[in-house]
Amino acid sequence: MLVLHNMANLVEGCYSLIKPYQLLNGGEMMKVLIVGGGGREHAIAWGISRTGGVKIFCAPGNGGTAVEFNNVNIAATDTKALADFAEKERVNLTIAGPEAPLVAGLADEFHSRNLPIIGPPRAGALLEGSKVFAKELMKEAKIPTAEFHVFSNPEDAASFIKKSNRAWVVKADGLAAGKGVIVPESVEEALHAVDRIMVKKEFGEAGARIVVEERLEGYECSAIALFDGRDFLFFDLSQDHKRVFDGDKGPNTGGMGAYSPVPFISSETVEKIKTKVFSRLAEALHKRGIEYRGVIYAGLMMVDGEPYVLEFNVRFGDPEAQPLIMRLDTPLLELLQATWNKELGKTSVSFSTEAAVCVVMASAGYPGAYEKGKQIEGLDEVEKMEKVKVFHAGTTFKEGYFYTSGGRVLGVTALGSNVATAADKAYTAVKKIRWDGLHYRRDIAYQAIHKTG
Ligand code: AMP
Ligand code: GLY
Repeated sequence: MLVLHNMANLVEGCYSLIKPYQLLNGGEMMKVLIVGGGGREHAIAWGISRTGGVKIFCAPGNGGTAVEFNNVNIAATDTKALADFAEKERVNLTIAGPEAPLVAGLADEFHSRNLPIIGPPRAGALLEGSKVFAKELMKEAKIPTAEFHVFSNPEDAASFIKKSNRAWVVKADGLAAGKGVIVPESVEEALHAVDRIMVKKEFGEAGARIVVEERLEGYECSAIALFDGRDFLFFDLSQDHKRVFDGDKGPNTGGMGAYSPVPFISSETVEKIKTKVFSRLAEALHKRGIEYRGVIYAGLMMVDGEPYVLEFNVRFGDPEAQPLIMRLDTPLLELLQATWNKELGKTSVSFSTEAAVCVVMASAGYPGAYEKGKQIEGLDEVEKMEKVKVFHAGTTFKEGYFYTSGGRVLGVTALGSNVATAADKAYTAVKKIRWDGLHYRRDIAYQAIHKTG
């Protein structure tokens, strides 16, 4: 089992425990392009860098990737410019971080030019791009999910909600930057949600249709796997913290922290997730002729030990990617290459027995309007800590200093012998980092810590 020594210095090259990647292109370095600029993309780049001999580009990247790798000034949604860059630079493999470029056809553009990319074509990206598509596919494939009803006009939705007298969740069909799901506490709030999405069109065209879904009670976890069009390779489970305040209070965010593994989920439950969710999904995609080479992340609600799918995402979770990649023993690049080469059936993945906890540090105001341009201090102190890695998200690097530039700014991630120890270590690091108005949750991983002591 791989032990990660002195994580802070890995950038300088402490790669000896992983065999160097074979050189490609007749002696040229292997080149990898990572699309996106969040903590997830920094973690993917870092995971790949543990294999020596790879030149890593991030488009557009962030302050952390600017310092450790090579940023390219192309927006993640500029599909054509990204493919032009990959062609010109003879990039060997591109990895799509976020969903929006995939829904916009990033992988289709790459495929049409014979450029390898990890991420599904648009037809597969609809798993995340359309909740109606995902729910109908789940129903057809008998993947456990909450009962649902689709509406394309607000009057029908409102009269259904009034008549049914049950607890529902209201979801905009299309992409809404993680804000299109409303969990109302009353019939009035549910009607207000319909009004916001369909009449006021707060999420634009994404709200032309809605899914009204039975409200489930349980605990959530994130299940992530690589798919190669035939087989899938299942990662260890992780758990996110979507609400902004301690105790899961306040509005939803992109995710305020995550940890892995999830010690209170039994191996029988994990088997159910594989057979009832991922196997059935692989079969359903195959049946629809969708060649899916990429990541699938199922947001699950566990109800009495049974997994129910709340949503599918066509990418790694963020922040879930950060603890998962930190725990990965198998070189990430080998896994991604096996995904592209359709070799997942003969590939295995192993994770460190250590746990990892990621605490997200955010700008004042996030998830609402937030401040930017604050100088970040203390990162050099954290770099001296072993088994701690700070993944950057909303940061820029200018003349030797890091500044905040986004809502989620840093993902401070630590390894420890169990979840509680990893959380202690992550918080020790968090306390060394400072900027005006920063905030973070103090209870990341509380469910694992309480349930396992
Ligand atoms: P989604 O983007 O679909 O994962 O939804 C965002 C959040 O809303 C989830 O993480 C859950 O906390 C909550 N949620 C979504 N669907 C349901 C449901 N059917 N029952 C209860 N909570 C839900
Ligand atoms: N962590 C939630 C997400 O990536 O969607």
